[in-house]
Amino acid sequence: MINTRIIGTGSYLPERIMTNAELEALVETSDSWIQERTGIAERRVVADDQSCTDLATIAAQRALEAANVSPEDIDLIVLGTCTPDRVFPSNACLVQQNLGSKAGAPAFDVAAACSSFVYALDVANRFLRTGGAERALVIGADTMTRLLNWKDRGTCVLFGDGAGAIVLEASDEPGILSTHLHADGAQECLLHVPWGPGMGYDRLTDTNGKISMRGNEVFKVAVRTLGRIVDETLDANGLSKEDVDWLVPHQANIRIIQATARKLGLPMERVVQTVQHHGNTSSASIPLALDTAVRDGRIKPGDLLLLEAFGGGFTWGSALVRY
Ligand code: ACO
Repeated sequence: MINTRIIGTGSYLPERIMTNAELEALVETSDSWIQERTGIAERRVVADDQSCTDLATIAAQRALEAANVSPEDIDLIVLGTCTPDRVFPSNACLVQQNLGSKAGAPAFDVAAACSSFVYALDVANRFLRTGGAERALVIGADTMTRLLNWKDRGTCVLFGDGAGAIVLEASDEPGILSTHLHADGAQECLLHVPWGPGMGYDRLTDTNGKISMRGNEVFKVAVRTLGRIVDETLDANGLSKEDVDWLVPHQANIRIIQATARKLGLPMERVVQTVQHHGNTSSASIPLALDTAVRDGRIKPGDLLLLEAFGGGFTWGSALVRY
């Protein structure tokens, strides 16, 4: 069985910064409430003339540059998102077109809400390990602000827009040690967008095309579930908590991140935290955090990374990575 390694990372955040103070003007909330309950200080908002694939393309270009790989050398694109620009073609096909990447190579989206990036990583990893491709772009990109009801204080303060990407290459050296995916569709009503184009545009209302969430219940399930997946991931590799150098979690809420770090017995200095700068960017949050810590020199070659995510569906997953 072939191994796979991450050979480049990249990310992109839209320019427009939206502070908590701006949200105070839209809904009954406060900077202190948002910071205390979520850790979020600001988020980025996509420009009117930008789309999810524009963000994804820039993140992908930066990952390719870091890997020193040209777009023609990519023979697979897997893009995690829950905000496709269009019903079809997929965001992955649009990114392939934007990059001028190899025509004929497979490109497709994976939809698992906030867990989409770990789902995409799992799929690409399997392609490479079985010889189906040699070099893949794995992207997480979302424009969550386009799914927000700006009158709902329970959701509009939480999310932001962004994109992150990695280049994954078949290798003799171990890199992606294991991936673990799960879903439980029975609890979909706790966190969902209740409308989609398949239901027909005549059923679209002012609010059902937007995120609806029972936050407190989601919070409890997320903390419990992420605690379990930490054990599952380490057990599968015969490793212990002390072996983990960096936790690179989905960035939804600082309190969820702290709970998972406690479960691992990891001090917060070994946890990559970016949620304060961009809120919950859904599929983008793990590759954004990874790229941040790679570029600022915290994550070094050889470090053991635990990536984990939880999101709508419910979906959840993890990856153990020797960087
Ligand atoms: N500003 C001020 N007050 C607010 C706000 C706000 N933005 N939002 C809710 N409140 C109020 C509520 O109405 C409630 O008021 P009440 O007591 O008068 O009824 C009070 O604050 C407490 O509400 P809770 O929902 O119990 O607050 P909680 O401490 O659970 O924090 C939050 C809410 C931040 C949404 C939290 O539950 C959370 O982060 N949940 C996880 C959600 C999430 O991250 N989902 C994304 C996808 S899943 C994932 O990525 C993990």
